Amino acid sequence: MKNTVLTFAEAKKNGEKITMLTAYDYSTAKLMDEAGINGILVGDSVGNVVLGYEDTISVTMEDMIHHGAAVSRGCSNTLLVVDMPFMSYQTSVYDAVVNAGRLMKEAHATCVKLEGGVAVAEQIRAITAAGIPVMGHVGLTPQSINAFGGFKVQGKSLAAAQQVLDDARAVEDAGAFSVVLEGIPAKLAARITEELSIPTIGIGAGAGCDGQILVYQDMLGMYSDFTPKFVKKYANVGKVMTDAFREYIEEVNNGSFPKEENSYKIDESVIEQLK
Ligand code: KIV
Repeated sequence: MKNTVLTFAEAKKNGEKITMLTAYDYSTAKLMDEAGINGILVGDSVGNVVLGYEDTISVTMEDMIHHGAAVSRGCSNTLLVVDMPFMSYQTSVYDAVVNAGRLMKEAHATCVKLEGGVAVAEQIRAITAAGIPVMGHVGLTPQSINAFGGFKVQGKSLAAAQQVLDDARAVEDAGAFSVVLEGIPAKLAARITEELSIPTIGIGAGAGCDGQILVYQDMLGMYSDFTPKFVKKYANVGKVMTDAFREYIEEVNNGSFPKEENSYKIDESVIEQLK
């Protein structure tokens, strides 16, 4: 069944969980789509896990369009959300609408995601008014790590928890169809989920959210630079890959690869007649 913004709304209404993962390329997206994931996010985490940056600040519109378009070719039934990168929407409402439009036209996104609450409510309102569904993102918003002073859990004090709740309300009021809650205490996420009529998608926000999202390299054990506490490793694909790379290197070095079955044949007479 094709997942749309209506599927997400229905899931919340019926108390069914929503599953999301990030992806950045065609073949991974196709595997997730075949597995039946509800939504794929082409996250600006592409900056960390694919491009090797320390944070998401350097990610550009061109990066998001390049990876978004690749992922879109692997999605048949999955809802495709593409992240708006740092400074593609904070600068003005006009920039936000133009850049959201580019992600729809050039990356073939179904929806866009942007970080922030009260501060970007006008941007969300304008993008939504242009017919583009918006996923909000509040709590630990990685594009603001310099303002936070690092990757720190948000919403722990009364004032901070109130701020996250107000941000989530602002995102809903502005017309977003769902909101990511990242890096906040589980009880706060559950309280927000209870109050909002749009689905909440949690990452490091406990089990009380309407859905969950993980960065796929984290859940497959492929990214060793940093693994947050909230990640569960469902496989150790990183080890499988390293073992296979080592075996390949050894076999090429000792001449056991390629074998005859890995090679193309030619009539012997052709070789003999070569001058
Ligand atoms: O960029 C990303 O991967 C994200 C998720 C962590 C929600 O925004």
